[in-house]
Amino acid sequence: METILVTGGAGFIGSHVCVELIEAGFRVVVIDNFVNSTPEALERIESITGERVHFMDVDMMDLDSLDEVFLTYTIDAVIHLAGLKAVGESVTDPLQYYRYNLTPLLHLCECIEKHHVHRLVFSSSATVYGPPQHVPIPETHPVKTENPYGRTKHMSEQILKDFQRSYFPVKIVILRYFNPVGAHQSGLIGEKPTGVPNNIMPYITEVAIGRLPVLHIFGDDYPTRDGTCIRDFVHITDLANGHVKGIEATERMDPGVAVYNLGTGKGTTVKELLHTFEHVTQTTIPFTIADRRSGDVAVSYADVRAAERELGWKSTKGIEDMCKDAWRWQHLNPTGYVKR
Ligand code: UFG
Repeated sequence: METILVTGGAGFIGSHVCVELIEAGFRVVVIDNFVNSTPEALERIESITGERVHFMDVDMMDLDSLDEVFLTYTIDAVIHLAGLKAVGESVTDPLQYYRYNLTPLLHLCECIEKHHVHRLVFSSSATVYGPPQHVPIPETHPVKTENPYGRTKHMSEQILKDFQRSYFPVKIVILRYFNPVGAHQSGLIGEKPTGVPNNIMPYITEVAIGRLPVLHIFGDDYPTRDGTCIRDFVHITDLANGHVKGIEATERMDPGVAVYNLGTGKGTTVKELLHTFEHVTQTTIPFTIADRRSGDVAVSYADVRAAERELGWKSTKGIEDMCKDAWRWQHLNPTGYVKR
């Protein structure tokens, strides 16, 4: 049985990745400092899978304690998800983003080389493409980052490419996520942002549950079919499964770095998402049209052919599943991960 280290394994994406890894037959070791997550998520992963999640309470800013993880377990491959991810916050506090998104990666690369690990999957973002010159967006699309968060993702990708050139045996898969939404269909794990959500789906579910009064749609005068922005929403379970495929790909690929989009290849408008949510959950979501949000692009969706061809990965779930599952999670856990 192979052992996969998942950094940030208690978070929204990490918890779903752990479930998919365990169900695919891997042993999972999680490290997390719970800055934006909770230990309860690890218990929920165990409830879903019936397997133990090995855990070490490690802050990746501390190289020695990260090294301890590699001394404790024989790690076959790493999935690096830990990091900060709020675009707005990265503009007001850029140094925090550079410090906490780059230093842990440097420490991880040091440990990977020192302990002769050869396989790494890294979580990047479609935000690196900036305003698309054309859609769907292939991995070869030029990169143009427009905020410090996006720049940390682009810099991380460059660091990994340089690292690979210096540590030849390592095989790295970089995954650029589009818009992950939804929750595990058990309703046991999902997304619980701290404070008021920045992203559309958690905002919708919090309005649906009555915690927020109204959804603000940021602009309805974009050049799209209903005037609202188009995004490539991808079910979190599909996205998590993309990581399993990424790990498997690092087994068979030649040393090097490969980059893949994870999306559905289909664009959905904000209003289409909202109306699908209302339809499948039989709720009514009050909304108002607000000003455009600075930094938003009108249309973004992925060219997913490379992931399909080379990873053997394809999304399976549609917008209806994403809405149903997000709602089930919110409904069963109105205040998030409160101990049962
Ligand atoms: N939106 C609203 N109201 C809200 C929240 C969002 O109308 O309350 C709109 C946005 O204006 C945008 C769309 O919903 O048009 C999607 O917004 P999200 O914030 O959910 O997602 P983004 O596409 O802005 O960003 C997400 C991640 C980023 C990542 C990016 C990659 O949050 O981290 O996808 O494309 F970089």
